[in-house]
Amino acid sequence: MSKALILEFSKKLISWHAVDGRHGLPWQGNRDPYAVWVSEIMLQQTQVATVLERYPRFMKRFPTVKKLAAADIDEVLAEWAGLGYYSRARNLHACAKQVMVDFSGQFPKDPVLLEQLKGIGRSTAGAIAAFAFHERAPILDANVKRILARIFAIEGTLQEKVFESRLWELAIELLPKKSEEMPIYTQALMDFGATWCSARKPVCLSGLQKCVFAKNCQANLSDQVLSFPKKVIKAKSPEFDCDMLLLRHGDSMLLQKRPSKAIWGGLWSLPESVWRAKSSGEHAKELKSAELFERILPEKAKALQKQCQKIQRGPQIKHVFTHRRLWMQIWEVHIKDPSNFANSDLRWISLQSLGAYGLPQPIKMLLQGLNLVRDDDLKN
Ligand code: ADE
Repeated sequence: MSKALILEFSKKLISWHAVDGRHGLPWQGNRDPYAVWVSEIMLQQTQVATVLERYPRFMKRFPTVKKLAAADIDEVLAEWAGLGYYSRARNLHACAKQVMVDFSGQFPKDPVLLEQLKGIGRSTAGAIAAFAFHERAPILDANVKRILARIFAIEGTLQEKVFESRLWELAIELLPKKSEEMPIYTQALMDFGATWCSARKPVCLSGLQKCVFAKNCQANLSDQVLSFPKKVIKAKSPEFDCDMLLLRHGDSMLLQKRPSKAIWGGLWSLPESVWRAKSSGEHAKELKSAELFERILPEKAKALQKQCQKIQRGPQIKHVFTHRRLWMQIWEVHIKDPSNFANSDLRWISLQSLGAYGLPQPIKMLLQGLNLVRDDDLKN
């Protein structure tokens, strides 16, 4: 491994950032650890363009860790709606409480302590420590793993523990010596991985720009850029079917609060049946209403059967999760008398007040597609 490159790596990267990195993002240059932490969590699985829109709104609604900790989880989830990966919102809320109780409202600057907080992994702890406290703490997200694996030709797959440990060691060796350079260096690594050293279209292959590391990058020199890091072939994710009830009375619909540990945990969604492994045959065209109600809301099945005025097969929508694909068959049911349906996790909600509730994105899109709500009704 080239000692010279290890020594000049951070300098080269920072020079690259001055010209071609991202500048002027609302969370840059901010040393408030709360603001840094919220931006890092939001940026984890959401594109910068979306975060640019949603981050200022979140900060306006919850301007301090104290305000976030004191908020109701439903409020936090409603503000997070549409950003996906809702465990991030639940962890944000839990972490805010931890910071209030265990650290008197002050985020610790030691990455080892930060990592003990809910929802903060080692790389995010490094990013917060570097941005907010100028600590010489490394980051190692998927983009950084790719950069290092390519430039230093590190063999192994992302799943291998030894590969990961080797990259952490390297990430530490490469840190700039001056701690005041930590924020710009960390941002440069993130930007370089997201733009120039991207997974599928790195600039070295497009020929449009000359990469700063062209003469040092081991993968480039051996013409194997796309082979690093080594990929494992993934099996196709399994597919499931479920039925969902769009239960209506006047301008209200019945929504069910999802259990906190489940997918879309804590959000309000349409009541749904248990998921079945997708059958190879087509979904049953007709289904007896009694059977349908029994599948979806067994404890309300008799009442539903009695009150059912009209039942209509709605659209079937597909949603792709990280590890599974779900086909949701919607059944629209109008009922005569809405009493005796609501309980602690089933609630009649008027179409106009849906914006106050966190709804899963595909359900929002379904309701918009059916013209039951307008975009504006879902904004809060
Ligand atoms: N992804 C995670 N953190 C980021 C940041 N600070 N800037 C851009 N993308 C990011």
